[in-house]
Amino acid sequence: MAGLCHTMTGLKRLDNIQQCIETVLRNNVEGDFIETGVWRGGTCIFMRAALAVYGIDDRKVYVADSFEGLPEPDPEKCPDDQNDALYKLSVLAISKEEVASNFKNYGLLDDQVVFLKGWFKDTLPTAPIEKLAILRLDGDMYESTIDGLNNLYPKLSKGGFCIIDDYALQGCQKAVDDFRKQHGIDAELHVVDWTGRYWVK
Ligand SMILES: C[S@@+](CC[C@H](N)C(=O)[O-])C[C@H]1O[C@@H](n2cnc3c(N)ncnc32)[C@H](O)[C@@H]1O
Repeated sequence: MAGLCHTMTGLKRLDNIQQCIETVLRNNVEGDFIETGVWRGGTCIFMRAALAVYGIDDRKVYVADSFEGLPEPDPEKCPDDQNDALYKLSVLAISKEEVASNFKNYGLLDDQVVFLKGWFKDTLPTAPIEKLAILRLDGDMYESTIDGLNNLYPKLSKGGFCIIDDYALQGCQKAVDDFRKQHGIDAELHVVDWTGRYWVK
């Protein structure tokens, strides 16, 4: 997982992001792109690169992360995270400076890239985002997934994509299933690979 790679998202999930981006551009689905949980930034860099390739300068890529790894579980708020120990993994804590430098190395660090630094529960409720066309959740835990869905799904345009990276993780899966049930969302949950899922709003 560590090594030199800039993303741990496999090729199938990167292809999926490309297809989602090309679809929203083709269909003129309004809004920016966001990934919540970016690690070294590779997936967001890929999103920004896609905008560059298509010459799009009126959409932003939001890069949301604590830049210090995952939060300790809060079992009162999210009992499903009770035994989650990912917060102990220092390999998941990548500073904002390192992510910015990765963007810069690809020549893709500019004002279309917006960093949202902090815990999702603090940053997402007040994030300066009006509309999203791509909402990509990659925060692994129940809390990180549900905070993304609760705060950002209402901003996702009709025809936009809600992409889940961690459906193979029990907490994330439960958050997605709970949210869809609670909001009566019955759009097909498409399979990307062993853990990637998405649906169209
Ligand atoms: C699995 S990594 C993301 C991988 C990344 N998308 C990629 O392309 O390789 C999970 C990231 O989510 C962040 N994260 C998880 N929960 C968070 C939360 N509640 N608030 C802020 N950041 C969080 C961690 O800091 C970590 O960078």
